[in-house]
Amino acid sequence: MTNLSVRIREVGPRDGLQNEKKWIETQDKVDWIDQLAETGLSYIELTSFVHPKWIPALSDASEVVKGVKKNKNVIFGALVPNERGLDRALEVGIDEIAVFLSASETHNRKNINKSIDETFLVLKPVIERAKKSNKPIRGYVSTVFGCPYEGDVDVNQTRKIAYQLMEAGVEEISFGDTIGVATPNQIEDVIQAISKEVSLEKMALHPHDTRGTALANVFAAYQLGVRAFDGSVAGLGGCPYAPGASGNVATEDLIYLLEGLGAKTGVDLEKLLESAKWIQRKLGRNLPSHHLQLAMAQ
Ligand code: HMG
Ligand code: MG
Repeated sequence: MTNLSVRIREVGPRDGLQNEKKWIETQDKVDWIDQLAETGLSYIELTSFVHPKWIPALSDASEVVKGVKKNKNVIFGALVPNERGLDRALEVGIDEIAVFLSASETHNRKNINKSIDETFLVLKPVIERAKKSNKPIRGYVSTVFGCPYEGDVDVNQTRKIAYQLMEAGVEEISFGDTIGVATPNQIEDVIQAISKEVSLEKMALHPHDTRGTALANVFAAYQLGVRAFDGSVAGLGGCPYAPGASGNVATEDLIYLLEGLGAKTGVDLEKLLESAKWIQRKLGRNLPSHHLQLAMAQ
């Protein structure tokens, strides 16, 4: 029987805010996350324990995690680049760790200041220690479908990294279209190639919507059996170290599509839209989500 249940990974408070120029007060971040936690989402990525100088917008990571109401229905995750980041995340009791690297050397170096091989040396102890602390670990691979510095990315590079991440012990890998260049045929090619290393149950798609292809890519991945998708409420998002990268697929548009296909997301679209309106008001500019713009016009 077809598996109708999908896992939605809300990355708005992390990917969504990391590139924002306007400082959002810690208490506002906490209030927004508390709202999101009441929408039926089962995973929310709260922040990043990266170097505060590299991502100033998330420099209050510990305060945010400490401020958010505990919620037994929601797993709260955060990005961790190294052991220093892990120490900080464990200290405030994060539920899940997300490690990250890129399929292309140049983006990896610009983003985390290391080669891909050096990154694995850093990540292995992070993964080992997170496992000893009984924390689930997800891995992100960025620039899978194209790199802002190198252009096309060889799928064998992604395969190799996916293999190494699985070997190291991550439980799910999210494949990132960091600069929103993928098209559905490429989604198919990449999923087929990486399914030799990662089973469909452990695969997630992380689409950015820079060229308007994100929902088409989600549809293609869903048809192929992928059941985990990352989205950012209101369509916020983008990597500061990937020039031109814009927002993630809006979670509300993602949910509408998936529910329309018969999938069960468990998320209340109306409540999610309220939290999209809330963050739009805080940022003081129109955000790209289709559902949000429709709601504003009504
Ligand atoms: P580095 O400068 O090479 O770090 O940065 P280092 O290990 O050489 O350490 C230098 C100093 O930083 C030391 O301090 C460390 O203690 C400190 P000192 O001894 O000189 O006083 N330090 C830290 N402080 C706080 N927290 C830490 C930390 N680590 C070191 N965790 C580093 C390397 C990885 C830290 C840096 O490059 C960094 O923080 N990069 C983050 C970049 C980032 O967050 N990018 C966006 C997220 S990725 C993304 O958006 C893509 C994704 O969405 C998927 C997709 O769309 O494809 C996930
Ligand atoms: Mg991203």
